[in-house]
Amino acid sequence: MDRDKTLTPDLSHLPEDFVFGVATSAFQIEGAAGPDQRGRSIWDHFCDQPGAIVDSSNGLIACDHVARVESDLDLIASLGVDAYRFSISWPRVQPDGRGPIHAAGLGFYDRLVDGLLARGIKPYATLFHWDLPLTLQTASGGWYGRDTVHRFADYAECIARQLGDRVASYSTINEPWVVAMLGHEQGVFAPGLRSRAVAMQVSHHLLLAHGLATQALRAHCSAPVGIVFNMSPIHPLTDCEADRLKARLDDGLINRWYMDAVLEGRYPADVLEHLGRDAPHCETGDAQQIRQRLDFVGVNYYTRSFASTGEPWSAEKAGAAITAMGWEIYPAGLAEHLTRMARDWQCPPIIVTENGAAFDDVLTDGEVDDSARVDYLASHIGAVAEAARQGVPMAGYFVWSLLDNFEWASGYAKRFGIVHVDYETQQRTPKQSARWYARLLRARALQRSNASTAPAPTR
Ligand code: FCB
Repeated sequence: MDRDKTLTPDLSHLPEDFVFGVATSAFQIEGAAGPDQRGRSIWDHFCDQPGAIVDSSNGLIACDHVARVESDLDLIASLGVDAYRFSISWPRVQPDGRGPIHAAGLGFYDRLVDGLLARGIKPYATLFHWDLPLTLQTASGGWYGRDTVHRFADYAECIARQLGDRVASYSTINEPWVVAMLGHEQGVFAPGLRSRAVAMQVSHHLLLAHGLATQALRAHCSAPVGIVFNMSPIHPLTDCEADRLKARLDDGLINRWYMDAVLEGRYPADVLEHLGRDAPHCETGDAQQIRQRLDFVGVNYYTRSFASTGEPWSAEKAGAAITAMGWEIYPAGLAEHLTRMARDWQCPPIIVTENGAAFDDVLTDGEVDDSARVDYLASHIGAVAEAARQGVPMAGYFVWSLLDNFEWASGYAKRFGIVHVDYETQQRTPKQSARWYARLLRARALQRSNASTAPAPTR
């Protein structure tokens, strides 16, 4: 196919107020981790465990974003995005997750939000992107303890009171499945536990925390509120019945568990039956608390999954096109999942809150030629536009990520940014993909202003 054509997705079916942006999260970029700057989080503690992070790195400095916020804001503005999705570090605002608020920490987000607004960029804030205050983990079991749910609602209220409607959109929790399963069943993310029963209880508490936080936000401001899920289609590896059943169950554990809970106020019966004694303990009324009216659902999409009762599928072995994470590049899965959301649930508007790819970028003579990332982004934005064409209520798309950053257990080894970061000097260099994204957004802005100044059509 003509490369120029595939690199310019047809955006004509996206709604007028569709929002394009870039995304980051606090722990992955902020740094400024001294005791007078923020409390410790479970990720600080996890990074200290030998072998937990591939390159033994941590988030103490990361992209030094707190110190460089003004120039980073200028960088965001230079892309011409409508919105910036960031997360608020709970331990920066409330070091112990309960009790006193750290005024200087909260003040940082004040400045960030005002700096975005001054540049005409909509602030999209996420309240929890994994950096739980460590004290809550050590003193009350973290998300396994029900008390954390109430602490989170208090924290949400504090943010709503302070930032209120200056924030254009709030997400309560980022990827509860990842927190529950990678953090509490597989142990590869903080807090590094390995129990399915604990993980499922954690998933319930995260969803309940979402419900209470949504109410706390709504009580104090009128900005839109939603939640962000990592979701993708799960295909059976073979056509045999066992693989098909496994695909249905995995879909239940990853997709339906969360969507049914927030949109329908129940957990899927087949998954509950499968879990048996590992099913979470729920109290009367929890389901109603979890099911709050939502202004949007956020989807983080990177690749599809395969379900297999035999050898697990490997994209690399199968010879599929892959990213540096070893994840298959499969844009059709995004369109498939978005249309499925609109079909299977009474779904509010959908925002792709994260989409992007890691590649082994090299900085040569001040340039990063990441044409593979350009292809990735163009094809996935095309999939979003295709979903909109098919009638799916699409409301936004955010590239993950603005900057190369701390990629959790992969440390700094995997680069997801459209802007390169030299971790020695903290120099930022926009990659080819950043320039491509800026051009795409400029062309769209131009088209819109032409359309609005065009003479009204006559009969
Ligand atoms: C998502 C996370 C985000 C980033 C991307 C690559 O699961 O939300 O922080 O690490 O993956």
